[in-house]
Amino acid sequence: MLCGARQPLRSRLLPTLLRSKGWPPGRGEGSLGTPNVLLPVAACSYGVPAGPAGIGGWYETLASSAPAHWAEALLLGTQDATGLPWWANIIVTTTALRSAVTLPLAAYQNYVLAKVENLQPEIKTIAKNLNYDVALQAKQLGWSKRLTRLVYLNNMRRIVSELYIRDNCHPFKATLVVWIQIPMWIFMSVALRNFSLGITDSEGAISIQEQLSTGGVLWFPDLTVLDSTWILPISLGVLNLLIVEIFASQKFEKSRFQKYVTHLIRGVSVLMIPIAATVPSSIALYWLCSSFLGLSQNLLLRSPGFRQFCRIPRTRSQSDTPYKDLFAVFYAKFFLRK
Ligand SMILES: *[C@@H]1O[C@H](CO)[C@@H](O)[C@H](O)[C@H]1NC(C)=O
Repeated sequence: MLCGARQPLRSRLLPTLLRSKGWPPGRGEGSLGTPNVLLPVAACSYGVPAGPAGIGGWYETLASSAPAHWAEALLLGTQDATGLPWWANIIVTTTALRSAVTLPLAAYQNYVLAKVENLQPEIKTIAKNLNYDVALQAKQLGWSKRLTRLVYLNNMRRIVSELYIRDNCHPFKATLVVWIQIPMWIFMSVALRNFSLGITDSEGAISIQEQLSTGGVLWFPDLTVLDSTWILPISLGVLNLLIVEIFASQKFEKSRFQKYVTHLIRGVSVLMIPIAATVPSSIALYWLCSSFLGLSQNLLLRSPGFRQFCRIPRTRSQSDTPYKDLFAVFYAKFFLRK
């Protein structure tokens, strides 16, 4: 009976526990830096055709939502304006979206993380002083070990969050890019799926589908069918893994949580290969293009010149020769390994 009563408390506590473990992510040396990949876990719902009530209904809501219509309008608008074949239209639209929305947000993410990193020495000093003060008081007042620790942690948490406010760099802001990029990715995929299946609400669904079926290029002339050569899916997987490895090669010490996330994203990258092989080529092409731009963005944001241009503060972990470093790390990892 007691057990039954305990259950709700546990489930209430769990989210807090999880949060306090992984949060704030910027506690360690270099801090979070989510790889700017944007692997779309949620999109696994993709292959699921409107079927059994639960998932089908959920997907239907997503597919008929306003953002899905905006994504369609954007694709059709670009197509109208440029008159490009569909494969090129997908590339141009993706590039435009990623440069106009994701790149500024990713620059902002780097800006916030740099500020957080630069706060660390100050935080360390404060922690040392606070530890001393609290220990002194504990001795005078005869506090238990537990209470002492609690007072220390509470004060530390308050001070750190005041510092984040002072410098306007709460680590949560660094995750903004993810919360925008993932939905964008999902809605673009949904729009392309509707176009490929000819089930869009937009006018002329059938003719759009026809355009797509002749709008491919190279080994995927028909964008409405799967890429049976697997070239698109495998390239996608390779690009995504490359992005993860570049992130993982960063110098700073990673927390257990970050290592866990890195493994998770590796797994998702591999899982995306068979998934990408079961969706129309239009979507696989979009995913590939999006990942390629994600990789380029990641590399661009390493460049000291570009960082300066974006007014990202210099940090101790920042390298003046990022590309050389990266090459050296990869070389050591893949060629020198015995
Ligand atoms: C996409 O297709 C679904 C049918 O599966 C439809 O309900 C939805 O409104 C369509 N969405 C758009 C944006 O056209």
